[in-house]
Amino acid sequence: MTNDKQLAAQALAAVLDNALSEAEITNLLETPKKSEMGDLAFPVFSLAKTLRKAPNMIALDLVEKITTAGFEKVVATGPYVNFFLDKSATATAVLSGILTQGTAYATLAKNGENVAIDMSSPNIAKPFSIGHLRSTVIGDALAEIYSKIGYTPVRINHLGDWGKQFGMLIVAYKKYGNEAAIRKNPISELLKLYVQINAEAAEDPTVDEAAREWFLKLENGDAEALALWQWFRDESLVEFDRIYKELGVTFDSMNGEAFYNDKMDEVIDILSEKQLLTTSNGATVVELEGFENPALIKKSDGATLYITRDLAAALYRKRTYNFAKSLYVVGQEQSGHFKQLKAVLNKMAYDWSDDIHHVPFGLVTKDGKKLSTRKGNVILLEPTIQEAVKRAAAQIEAKNPDLANKAAVAHAVGVGAIKFYDLKNERLNGYDFNLEEMVSFEGETGPYVQYAHARIQSILNKAAFKPESVLGQIFSLSDDESWEIIKLLQAFSDVIARAARTFEPSVVAKYAINLAQAFNKYYAHTRILEESDERDARLSLAYATGVVLKESLRLLGVEAPTEM
Ligand code: ARG
Repeated sequence: MTNDKQLAAQALAAVLDNALSEAEITNLLETPKKSEMGDLAFPVFSLAKTLRKAPNMIALDLVEKITTAGFEKVVATGPYVNFFLDKSATATAVLSGILTQGTAYATLAKNGENVAIDMSSPNIAKPFSIGHLRSTVIGDALAEIYSKIGYTPVRINHLGDWGKQFGMLIVAYKKYGNEAAIRKNPISELLKLYVQINAEAAEDPTVDEAAREWFLKLENGDAEALALWQWFRDESLVEFDRIYKELGVTFDSMNGEAFYNDKMDEVIDILSEKQLLTTSNGATVVELEGFENPALIKKSDGATLYITRDLAAALYRKRTYNFAKSLYVVGQEQSGHFKQLKAVLNKMAYDWSDDIHHVPFGLVTKDGKKLSTRKGNVILLEPTIQEAVKRAAAQIEAKNPDLANKAAVAHAVGVGAIKFYDLKNERLNGYDFNLEEMVSFEGETGPYVQYAHARIQSILNKAAFKPESVLGQIFSLSDDESWEIIKLLQAFSDVIARAARTFEPSVVAKYAINLAQAFNKYYAHTRILEESDERDARLSLAYATGVVLKESLRLLGVEAPTEM
């Protein structure tokens, strides 16, 4: 779109006698809601005062004088000057770009800057929740999106592997633990222990006291405490790794909270040097203006807290990755924590505290109800993924029983369906977890987009289409359906930029749905394979759509099978 805007702005500036600069005009240019109104619209209202004329007249005058080079036509509609792009020139430029560049279309050169992405970050000895799934999937998509526009993403899994809950767990294990049972079913057994001991603590204050002591021992490097902690951690990671493998997500760093144990003293030293520490009821805190509570850095017994470890992590990440941006993909319920984190870093006078962004997301419900382990309304991830793959397999069996690599495709479709459904929702909106809807081939789903991509591959195969063989041609496509697609393809880089700027993978997911729908509409209207002067152009359009669908899915961490 950018080049056409420039062209329109230049043409307008030339007939406006410096009433507005080219940049001002560019800012005013709009994309009309209806395509009958052209591709760009310039509202003339702001000129009415200086020119002392009615807006409708101004528009008519401008159109009279303007040069239309590069456009099909320029017309006045009420107080607007509407520009219609030259369809064949636009189609040729867009399609040639994609034919030559393939999936590198809209990729920007490396800019040498890093983006740290804190993502997934499940808690040891607790189930991997749907919240952690959201964090994993959104974080991974943001990593791909930022990579596409030239940044180098650093995926960091800030494991919840430290804190007083480990004191609780050790107390529980020493009282009731069964080593063999834990080895067999680590997370569910550890969770049982955790639930039991918490219930007990609610009745009996000595439990809490014992847990506090064990956590202190852990922080002070007690051998028995450390060995138990290490074991719980290792067992949990085996389960988490299985999930990451299913999801196809990898990390650049698995440095969780425990990694910062020996890095918190430094934070406390800096805070004290900068005279930011005060004592409140024996605890060490940083007072924050405009906050209800100060940031609690150290408890009265010397134990550190979640935020202390996050401060150490922020410093470590700045030093290690020198990030241009540091994102934390964590549920909305932790907004208060990240506000405090940013505020403390700001008080420490780190100008890079502005580059820290909490990227929050909303809650997932099931059957309209909040998830609750206690009330039995839970979504266990591994069986859920298996079920999604099974449902995908059943649909593939019905549609395409002879498909060669059914199991792999079913996996791509099932897992892709879960991811896509999560990502198509604006991240702050929660959603209801409905597997049937997710895996459906109809509607705004991952399988729908994947299917459009696979259909395109089958058309191209039948035609034995080779992009190199049509390069250099002028593509004149003039029907409304193909024009719709051309404009979407042209907008791809703007879409990616917007997704990155707003930390919203949903922008890419919605775009992929629109593109798939536009293609299916075209497919319903046009015999792509039929001999005609337009055949090469039609095939090129299909090819380009396939490339951009595949690339959009890749940015979302979703595979694009060539057949399904
Ligand atoms: N482990 C935490 C939880 O499950 C999320 C950690 C988020 N990242 C961070 N740097 N605080 O709630």
